[in-house]
Amino acid sequence: MDLIPVAIWVLIGIAGLLFAVKVLYGVSIALVLPLTQGALYVSTARTRVAAMLEAVAPEPGQVLVDLGCGDGRVLRCASRRYHVYAQGYELNPLAYLKARLMSLGYADVAIHRRNFWKADLSSADVVCCYLFPDVMSRLAGKLHDELKAGATVVSFNFPLPGFDPDRVLRPGGQRTNDPVYIYRVQAPGTHSS
Ligand SMILES: C[S@@+](CC[C@H](N)C(=O)[O-])C[C@H]1O[C@@H](n2cnc3c(N)ncnc32)[C@H](O)[C@@H]1O
Repeated sequence: MDLIPVAIWVLIGIAGLLFAVKVLYGVSIALVLPLTQGALYVSTARTRVAAMLEAVAPEPGQVLVDLGCGDGRVLRCASRRYHVYAQGYELNPLAYLKARLMSLGYADVAIHRRNFWKADLSSADVVCCYLFPDVMSRLAGKLHDELKAGATVVSFNFPLPGFDPDRVLRPGGQRTNDPVYIYRVQAPGTHSS
């Protein structure tokens, strides 16, 4: 068999596959856009996830929640290194599927295909998010109403209005070294607003 035509067909196959993945990515985002309100499925660099977890240092057995968990990388890293119960909420079907597949074998990682606005966060010790500025005010209200005193909130890139950050990290690992805001929840009603 002539090797050159075979190589061309292999290249066409790879290009087709990449194109199909791109289309699938676009469609999966478009499908949930009215609900995700601008928060696209974009993953946080693993180095940033590791730096954030090192700063927060959750204790074994604590509950860590990622609101819009993407492929679930925050959950797996937290479960593997800090032995927490990690829960993620994700609406994007592609991200959800990837998160479920990649988390097979992680007994303490649970991923829900559910709108996180409907989740009860009262048992969470650490809540993480990487969302979009449009939803941060509403999210601040939900966290304020539901989280227990002493809980930690982490927001990648965008601050939570009305909350004073305990620390702001700039861990790099992406093209920009965008901020990572870390908040400690005070007794209900005591954060500045
Ligand atoms: C920027 S990505 C962050 C993914 C992951 N947390 C990370 O840091 O790698 C934001 C994700 O939140 C999801 N999302 C946005 N709003 C949501 C909602 N109301 N319920 C569940 N998932 C949501 C999006 O589908 C998207 O995958």
